[in-house]
Amino acid sequence: MSNRVYIKTVGCQMNVLDSEMVIADLKRNGYTVVDSPEEADCVLYNTCSIREQAEEKTYSALGTIRQAKEKDPDKVIGVMGCMAQKDQELVFKRAPYVDLVVGPGQLHTIPALLDKVRGGEGRQMAVSLSRKAGSQLEIARSHETFDPLRDPTMRPTPFQAYLRIQIGCDKFCTYCVVPNTRGPEQGRSPDQILAEAEVLAEQGALEITLLGQTVNSYKFKHEDGTVTDMASLLQRLHEIDRIKRIKFVTNYPKDMTERLLETIRDLPKVSPYLHVPAQSGSDDVLKRMKRGYTVADYMAMMERIERILPNAAISSDFIVGFCGETEEDFQKSVALVRRCRFKNSFIFQYSVRPGTKASERLEDDVPRDIKARRNNELLAVQDEVAKEDNLKFVGKEVEILVEGPSKKGIKNDEGDQLIQMIGRTSCDRIVVFDGNRRQAGQFMSIQIDDASSHTLIGRVKTVEVVSLGSLV
Ligand code: SAH
Ligand code: SF4
Ligand code: F3S
Repeated sequence: MSNRVYIKTVGCQMNVLDSEMVIADLKRNGYTVVDSPEEADCVLYNTCSIREQAEEKTYSALGTIRQAKEKDPDKVIGVMGCMAQKDQELVFKRAPYVDLVVGPGQLHTIPALLDKVRGGEGRQMAVSLSRKAGSQLEIARSHETFDPLRDPTMRPTPFQAYLRIQIGCDKFCTYCVVPNTRGPEQGRSPDQILAEAEVLAEQGALEITLLGQTVNSYKFKHEDGTVTDMASLLQRLHEIDRIKRIKFVTNYPKDMTERLLETIRDLPKVSPYLHVPAQSGSDDVLKRMKRGYTVADYMAMMERIERILPNAAISSDFIVGFCGETEEDFQKSVALVRRCRFKNSFIFQYSVRPGTKASERLEDDVPRDIKARRNNELLAVQDEVAKEDNLKFVGKEVEILVEGPSKKGIKNDEGDQLIQMIGRTSCDRIVVFDGNRRQAGQFMSIQIDDASSHTLIGRVKTVEVVSLGSLV
């Protein structure tokens, strides 16, 4: 039997990492990866439920694959990830030709379930327990992931890797599906994390990005009662020689302690880049979101960061048009962007999610066109402050890790001439410059000549050649 698998991944970095691991597992079971669903014997969709639009895109992709399945009934169609966990049987109802539904906590079962489907045992489903369907421990166990399986060939670049340190989330923001799809918050054991980081370093990773929904709340309780927190974990990871840069996302404002900020300051390999979503600039909205902090708390956190890490870059997420958001509330989000001058912000229009507190108790009362207008307005202000701050880099030199050719570079690559390359500074700013593919994976100094709201534009700093003539 031929074993060709195609995987399509949408959603956040957690999903990118999950896909990498599923592929590593399938390769060990004799599968090879192909680039299109047409060539594949098994087509897997790794899905996201964070907004309705993300789900609708997946259902529409499933609609398109139906024809291929009709032509070739042996082709296996699998849906994995957050939408699989959230919709469960509903996936089979909406797309009856799907063979496999697997939640993010059950991904290790995929090779065996594929065997069952292909052996004629019919459609298969493996999902984790819902938040009330068992004891704390049983629920947590059912959401555990199988992270040690890593496959560098599945990464966007071989020298950058994700490393999960925390599973799930217990914050229960009223709009959010994640505590349901990914289960209870669990810190992975520091020994496991360290061992995995060593594997990544051996595979060539220079930069690791630690992943968790509220990564700075990371805690692991040892059997002797002692606790490893995020600061201690960073200290331990910092000792791995071959790893040169450590980033971590996403942070929760309330848990950005002085101890953590001081640790970041004292560890040169840890990036002074903090993605710490505010979600709204209005206390009333934050309260309805159950975010657990006020705007004053957020500003106090900004003050701590400014004092301890004056050169840090901060980025945020915002939801516009949340239940009951007035124009005045919205203008407070605009004001917060102006005050905090985020490096960038991801801005989303509120989308009602079944199963969340907001969907049960609050009315989605901001019309679509107002959500869209607020989205554009907030984005324009964000871009304005980002451009002003990026322009401050003009004339300066920055150090970047080169990632590879930019999209434009790939399009214009005709051989040996210079192409546009892309890289990032330690504070996560994107830098483009003319260079060549061999520079990928190198740390380089770039002289910045221009900037837009999302990108710094520069050139390789050439070593000044001192004319010998002037010396004699
Ligand atoms: N754990 C992270 C966020 C994960 S989801 C945190 O707490 O910051 C990524 C982003 O999606 C969120 O920050 C939020 O801005 C957005 N989001 C989540 N649920 C949403 C919903 N129902 N509608 C619109 N945006 C949403
Ligand atoms: Fe969702 Fe809130 Fe948890 Fe982030 S902290 S994953 S927004 S519930
Ligand atoms: Fe989406 Fe699940 Fe990530 S809902 S954003 S893929 S945790």
